[in-house]
Amino acid sequence: MRGKFVTFEGTEGSGKSTQVRLLAKYLDDTNQPYLKTREPGGDDIAEKIRTLVLSAENDTMTFETEALLYAAARAQHVKHIILPALAEGKIVICDRYVDSSISYQAYGRELSLDFVKNINEYALKNCAPDLTILLDLSPEDAFKRKGGVDKNDRIETSGDAFYKRVDDAFRNLRLETDRVVTIEPYGSRKHTLDQIIKVLRDKDYIK
Ligand code: TYD
Repeated sequence: MRGKFVTFEGTEGSGKSTQVRLLAKYLDDTNQPYLKTREPGGDDIAEKIRTLVLSAENDTMTFETEALLYAAARAQHVKHIILPALAEGKIVICDRYVDSSISYQAYGRELSLDFVKNINEYALKNCAPDLTILLDLSPEDAFKRKGGVDKNDRIETSGDAFYKRVDDAFRNLRLETDRVVTIEPYGSRKHTLDQIIKVLRDKDYIK
């Protein structure tokens, strides 16, 4: 049976990566097979694209190039990492996916939504998430938590107006309640993890 594909979305500092790590530890501790991965990244080529796209040195990169690079990394990732793991019946836990491109490149960079959707259709090969967990924290709270902007990160240095638009996109994503479960990560890490585990158990994705 095909495994389930679960993505995590939210702004920088929302605690996504920590929760993905804690969930993986829970699955390890309870002997459940899974694949943990992230975007941009996942395979060697996609990790190289990650370095290229995030490096603040590449400050002449056009927003179109940026969107295409995220989609290119995703094409590698889907074909070489995500689809094979799903075919093996594993649950795939992925830190960011196409909703990040909609939020950051279409809304944040103000590129055409059709353009961003179209290039990602090529990359995705119909590999849509079964479930998306949105950790919903305002950009102000999130940057406070992570102790400010990382100056070496080309995306993080994009300014408050950019992050306001990204946040608006995440607010829209909240409305897709068939697929998206929103969790407000204001309590302890453990409290947030418990909520995530409950969502996955209720859907019978994990034990
Ligand atoms: P990362 O350091 O992994 O940030 P985080 O821990 O918050 O996920 O960097 C990923 C960055 O790339 C983050 O700023 C969001 C951005 N991004 C996009 O702009 N579009 C995308 O499609 C993806 C996957 C990420």
